Amino acid sequence: MVRRSSTENFERIEPFRDRLQLVQADLLDTMSLISLLEDIHPREVYNLAAQSFVPTSWKQPVLTAQFDAIGVTRLLEAIRLVDRSIRFYQASSSEMFGKVREVPQTELTPFHPRSPYGVAKVYAHYITVNYRESYGIFACSGILFNHESPRRGREFVTRKVTDGVARIAAGLANELQLGNLEAKRDWGFAGDYVEAMWLMLQQPEPDDYVVATGESHSVGELVEIAFRCIGRDWRQHVVQDPALTRPAEVDHLVGDAAKARRVLGWKPKVGFAQLVTMMVDADRARYGTS
Ligand code: GDD
Repeated sequence: MVRRSSTENFERIEPFRDRLQLVQADLLDTMSLISLLEDIHPREVYNLAAQSFVPTSWKQPVLTAQFDAIGVTRLLEAIRLVDRSIRFYQASSSEMFGKVREVPQTELTPFHPRSPYGVAKVYAHYITVNYRESYGIFACSGILFNHESPRRGREFVTRKVTDGVARIAAGLANELQLGNLEAKRDWGFAGDYVEAMWLMLQQPEPDDYVVATGESHSVGELVEIAFRCIGRDWRQHVVQDPALTRPAEVDHLVGDAAKARRVLGWKPKVGFAQLVTMMVDADRARYGTS
């Protein structure tokens, strides 16, 4: 499902466009969701749609809530009205843990979101649980920690760094401006995480799962590994820009995916250094310098 736009922006799904049927609807428009479910009759719905960039959520908090929180209620309402047997996956986020109450975070760790994005995701998480408990809908919430790949948008830190490194290697830039280098995240490979989403909807019972690698690394470590891939010292190129720091930061995320491992038989295959190298290589290939 895609939103209508006068300029199409399908660059990141281009490699498999021939295997996809794209249909238009909008999370802001309940009728469009109902019509779509009636037309397609899906057995499974994966809601990955969101205003997903945390800094933008301070600039557009109401729109973020419309898509990321109320949009999920609209979709669940559409499922309830059209066909309650549709299985539903909600993309919940480790940003819900925010100012973390314990390390590592599990399905039982209390939430303390630190951005309008995180707050909206907490609402979406609980409305998913509520439709499961109220209407018996097979609704699952996957609490996914950061997941990355060469298809990641350039505004997120991993891709910003690997794209920046590739531009520097190609002689197109000399400087990379970043915000907080101390923040720690549990970064995994998106391909592994999508497998966990699918596994959740194949179980006999719906439930919520943390999906994470269990390893955390700082933005500084990410930068160091990425620059090492091109044989450069990051200190020569990275400039810290206070404008890129956030009004409230999530300092340290690391997940405990023991439940996903036990129930779904899931575990990540790609490690952190391998992920960063994969992304640097893909960006270097784009600039023709690999
Ligand atoms: N984007 C960005 N740009 N982040 C930076 C920069 C920069 O220049 N410099 C430092 N950072 C730090 C941020 O302050 C944050 O602590 C960390 O890098 C990661 O930022 P992002 O890559 O933007 O991701 P995120 O952790 O805020 O959110 C992503 O992961 C969530 C799952 O935990 C997004 O994909 C969310 O949509 C997702 O829910």
